[in-house]
Amino acid sequence: MATRIFSGIQPTGTLHIGNYFGAIRNWAALQTDHDCIYCIVDYHAITIETDPVALRAASRSMALDLIACGIDPERSILFVQSSVPEHTELAWIFGCVTSYGDLSRMTQFKDKSADKKFVSAGLFTYPILQAADILLYRADGVPVGGDQVQHLELSRRIARRFNTRFGEFFPEPEPLVGKGARITSLADPTAKMSKSDGEAHYIGVMEDEGSIRKKVRSAVTDTGLAPGETMSPGVVNLFEILELSTELAGGSAVAAELRADFAAGKLMYSRLKDVVFDSLMNVLRPIQQRRSELEASGKVEEILAHGAEKARAIARDNIASVREMVGFD
Ligand code: TYM
Repeated sequence: MATRIFSGIQPTGTLHIGNYFGAIRNWAALQTDHDCIYCIVDYHAITIETDPVALRAASRSMALDLIACGIDPERSILFVQSSVPEHTELAWIFGCVTSYGDLSRMTQFKDKSADKKFVSAGLFTYPILQAADILLYRADGVPVGGDQVQHLELSRRIARRFNTRFGEFFPEPEPLVGKGARITSLADPTAKMSKSDGEAHYIGVMEDEGSIRKKVRSAVTDTGLAPGETMSPGVVNLFEILELSTELAGGSAVAAELRADFAAGKLMYSRLKDVVFDSLMNVLRPIQQRRSELEASGKVEEILAHGAEKARAIARDNIASVREMVGFD
């Protein structure tokens, strides 16, 4: 079983329910019996164009979102990546044990660079920095959504290459992928939910109730069936959101009833959507409430400074060993 957990999220300004069900809820659950380190990855964020003022604000805002979702800074380390510059030093060293061919196979790079006029070298080497994030703390468990599994395979490979070349030091980190591994877009249920596709595609965890209701009501359900499918991807997604939303309350009898209606060919999508909306709001309302209380308390700077101090102490120790192994002064 994994003992030290590490995971990261980009400060994009909005946490969506794909992030929440795919990763953050598992981050929170793992805190009970693991040593957890959670990071807001602002070095990764600048691989694409960003505004400095907005970036700083987005990192703070993401910290509040994460705490509201149950990340407890008393039990776990919560910090902003750039306050521990050792991440970049380890990334450089890892860059020297990573092959160009391996990086070229990363599907996320292919997706994010497609049709772009300017593609930064940072976007290409992004997974090396991700491996450094995890291994700087010698973490062995990484709770993520399904889209990060390929990056995690590369992290394992990097750990092995380093260990072979310089001596045994890093564990091979395991991806910990839960049930909500791939929440899809409401407007295009064949694609994963992502903020970058635009407003209609995602539901923000902190979004207001009226807007969430509208988005759920207009979720696409009638894309038709691909060969071998019995339920269209939009309906699969709505059931998934419903089941994830009621999971902690012991499951939902209504979900089972609606599945039976679907099997009998008499499911009303409008009813499914109403139930999805109600169940989802039962999860989001208390998070939104905590978020506004936290914001009012003004403690986020202090929390992040404390987290950075604790992260840096571990990072410094490990980077000192790595420097010694590599042969640096
Ligand atoms: P990011 O910021 O895109 O997403 C944060 C987490 O949310 C998950 N996720 C989803 N899960 C299910 N369905 C979706 N539609 C969905 N969209 C996002 C992601 O899988 C992720 O777990 N490269 C990472 C950040 C990172 C990182 C790390 C992660 C940097 N260093 C070290 C783990 C360990 C990313 O961009 O995640």
